Amino acid sequence: MTDQAVQTPATSNPAGHPERVFSGVQPTGNLHLGNYLGAIRNWVPLQDQRPSIFCVVDLHAITAGFEPDLADKTREIAAAYIACGIDPKKSIVFPQSRVSAHAELAWILNCVARIGWLDRMTQFKDKAGKHKERVSVGLYAYPVLMAADILAYRATHVPVGEDQKQHLELARDIAQKFNNDLNVPGFFPQPEPLILGPTPRVMSLRDGKAKMSKSDASDLSRINLKDSDEEIAAKIRKARTDPEPIGGTMEEMDARPEASNLLGIYAALAGKPKADILEQFEGAQFSTFKNELADLAVSVLGPIRQRMAALLTDKAEIDRVLEDGAARARAIAMPILAETRKAAGFL
Ligand code: TYM
Repeated sequence: MTDQAVQTPATSNPAGHPERVFSGVQPTGNLHLGNYLGAIRNWVPLQDQRPSIFCVVDLHAITAGFEPDLADKTREIAAAYIACGIDPKKSIVFPQSRVSAHAELAWILNCVARIGWLDRMTQFKDKAGKHKERVSVGLYAYPVLMAADILAYRATHVPVGEDQKQHLELARDIAQKFNNDLNVPGFFPQPEPLILGPTPRVMSLRDGKAKMSKSDASDLSRINLKDSDEEIAAKIRKARTDPEPIGGTMEEMDARPEASNLLGIYAALAGKPKADILEQFEGAQFSTFKNELADLAVSVLGPIRQRMAALLTDKAEIDRVLEDGAARARAIAMPILAETRKAAGFL
């Protein structure tokens, strides 16, 4: 994946604003293989194609509650970006809370988005569960802040995992409604979701029907970027599969979600299409395949873990990188915010 040129679709951008990539990860819980294969890994080649902005979305993190280690978690995500291949000199890497335009634009966009639109967000329904009245207003407004993140830079391309598709559609609707209601055609471009690679949705290692997630109670369900080589190998060996050997067709494997998930993970880590991996392992037993997958996963994730740990030994340097990123981000977002205020009619 990282070596290949990424084909990206054209966006609806009639005003011809400069193209930009924007994405982010929340500094909550442990970064896992889903975040890496569904998002961060795919960002690396994009930064060579267009100016790119990679944010640590700490304002989003507090929607689920305040944690005393927020600053350290923020540094950890920044270190992970860099360890995975994001170059903070080329791309902008910064914490969301250090650029006030995100929160200010989010307020304006809260007055554009409709409650009916937010009521349809499946991620809110999943996270709020049965006790909707007890979760924060921030959790409900989460997707509007996400739209603000993107539109504050007039970002045109947004690489994310598949679970973010609905939020991206909402961001497009908000952009469109702002442009229409305030009669400023093309003011915000339509951000294009980029859902890339063979694993846009990495599934739990324990349940092929559930997404791999930071919040799963079982640590065996996910591979964390901080896991040791031994932990990675053990989790792969314990991953749920079925007793059949690897089948010959994609259709057959699609009906076996746990097995199909492991093949997808192999493909993504190897940077090859899933069909090639299926051909390579057709007829093999899962015991054999899992050994190969464990070796591959350790060879890719081990060096990332080591680079992350090395970067985190110098917190002051990470803070410098993040402050430099925030200054560069402000230089883009503040003029767009000023134009937005004017379009909205403020004094
Ligand atoms: P977060 O932190 O929940 O996830 C970060 C990225 O990881 C992807 N991802 C996955 N991809 C594949 N398989 C999985 N199991 C998996 N789990 C997570 C997510 O799709 C995401 O790309 N709301 C965003 C953060 C955000 C954002 C933004 C993204 C805030 N503002 C603006 C883009 C643009 C999120 O999901 O964070």
